[in-house]
Amino acid sequence: MAEKKLSGEVYYPSKEVLEYANAKCESLYEFASKDPVAFWESEAKNLYWSKPWTKVLDDSNKPFYKWFVGAETNIAYNCLDVHVKTARRNKLALIWEGENGEFRSFSYFALHRETCRFANVLRSLGVKKGDRVTLYMGRIPELMIGMLACARIGAIHSVVYGGFSVEALHERLEDSQSKVLIVADGSFQRGKIVELKKIADEALQRAATVESVLVVKRTGHQINMEFGRDMWYHELMNLPIANNNECLEMVDAEHPLFLLYTSGTTGKPKAILHTHGGYMVGTYTTLKYVFDIHEEDRYWCAADPGWITGHSYIVYGPLLNGATSFMYEGAPNYPYPHRWWQMIEKYGINILYTAPTAIRGLMRFGDAWPNRYNLASLRLLGSVGEPINPEAWRWYYKVIGKERCPIMDTWWQTETGMFMITPMPCTPLKPGSGTKPFPGIVADVVDENGNPVKPNEEGYLVIKTPWPSMLRTIWNDPDRYVNQYWSKYPGMYMTGDSARKDEDGYFWVIGRVDDVIKVSGYRLGTAEIESALVSHPAVAEAAAIGLPHELKGNAIHCFVLLKTGYEKSDKLVDELKQHVAHEVGPIAKPEHIEIVDSLPKTRSGKIMRRVLKARALGIDPGNLSTLEE
Ligand code: WTA
Repeated sequence: MAEKKLSGEVYYPSKEVLEYANAKCESLYEFASKDPVAFWESEAKNLYWSKPWTKVLDDSNKPFYKWFVGAETNIAYNCLDVHVKTARRNKLALIWEGENGEFRSFSYFALHRETCRFANVLRSLGVKKGDRVTLYMGRIPELMIGMLACARIGAIHSVVYGGFSVEALHERLEDSQSKVLIVADGSFQRGKIVELKKIADEALQRAATVESVLVVKRTGHQINMEFGRDMWYHELMNLPIANNNECLEMVDAEHPLFLLYTSGTTGKPKAILHTHGGYMVGTYTTLKYVFDIHEEDRYWCAADPGWITGHSYIVYGPLLNGATSFMYEGAPNYPYPHRWWQMIEKYGINILYTAPTAIRGLMRFGDAWPNRYNLASLRLLGSVGEPINPEAWRWYYKVIGKERCPIMDTWWQTETGMFMITPMPCTPLKPGSGTKPFPGIVADVVDENGNPVKPNEEGYLVIKTPWPSMLRTIWNDPDRYVNQYWSKYPGMYMTGDSARKDEDGYFWVIGRVDDVIKVSGYRLGTAEIESALVSHPAVAEAAAIGLPHELKGNAIHCFVLLKTGYEKSDKLVDELKQHVAHEVGPIAKPEHIEIVDSLPKTRSGKIMRRVLKARALGIDPGNLSTLEE
């Protein structure tokens, strides 16, 4: 086929890649661009529904879109029961390695059994359809079992990333009004124990709604168990209540599946709400085509299940596709920087999906570490979380993928639920570009007034039509949902990112245009960091900004105004950094804190972070007309 020659540095897929790929680019784009709704409907037909839909998309109450109207299903049924009825019953669903070298694996049969048993436990504790359950642990199989068990009975899970700390957990328990908390005693991180249960005990003192706490034994260190509230997971799973009766409830396609908190422009983190039906269709379809799942594949998404990447592409997407997923508990360079490469060889991983920050981190140790291992099983690579710099892309492509494995640079968000701008194996690649919108997705780059900008001009990245796995609302705050995403350009979803589109229609995401900071791919809000700082007795006011960082992408820099009576000192700066780590989590620990005498503000008293950032970078701060004298 005569393709138009693309501009810039382009990597065309090899003949082998093209022949092997399930996804035939041309026909998918053609079908989806003619009729996106019909495209999603045809994909939905590959999944099980106990009651069919009467309409695929209901857009009568924009932006509160509904998908698969009137249908009933259960995502957990599609993840497990469907496969247990086939030859996949004996196929591995999950292979797990602990940081300490422990190993566990689950066939589809076993994962189904454990999930049913745990769903029965939850029911016996009074968890009902619609109740919220918070999960707080490291990367262990029980996290997956817990999420799927909630889904089975129609309860709504809210996973809090195990790297978050007291205040972050408390806020999320409180906002979701969770009835049950499932927590691990601790998690292993670089050979040390993160005391998750201890953090939870402190958070629980501040949270009122939690009735039961179920504790998974992982580290086995001494912890406090509160009588009448805390119960061991393994003890409950050994009681007759934990039988493997099916314990399943079919729910409406629009029934909430989970809440996932994420940082937004202002104020507290908000809970993004996803539903059973649309989310299922979106994650199933995108994973199938983008990572081109074949029956014999062993797929590894190295993210954390506590973030959207783990929800969609460690738990739901792979299981919906009947894939074999690999999960690793610990840090990539523990005990040495060989760990990931060793596991790829050991388990014969075919697909590796990770973040630029991890690639940069491992690249730093040189080529000798990966070169000691046989990485020939790899077929496809992936990247997510932030723009990938071309040097990291080329290293990943050459040293890890041996110039054989295309890199799927997937742009998406907690809110979108699934990949939105992404190549497929058949797409010619340009390092640093997510290439084009997935079939069925209409994205564009627009100016202040919502008009498309010219090729190569920077503008706001928007999505112009609804998609099945879109967020449905912000939990308990539908007004914020409308204001934040749909009010700037009515009818268009505002992503909060800036981007440009080149002459070939390839998208290049530049970064956030709001107060979100991406630190090592993790999404944090300036407001969370600032409110943690201000909760320290010495701090009167604080401002946080993100500045470029070689490994982390961005690092947090803070400016702090002290209360009278407090003196600037290195000790105080250290104490403030620790305080943020204790309240929000180690990932939010500021790289740098500067004690200042004043902060630039608008006349109405808002801190102008833009000015702080420009000053730190030594660039022009732009329009200063609103700056207070
Ligand atoms: C950024 C993560 C460039 C972007 C799945 C987005 C990316 C935010 C990419 C969402 C990518 C994610 N290239 N930027 N491939 N993937 N981003 O909600 O700024 O944690 O808005 O979801 O990450 O972060 P979130």
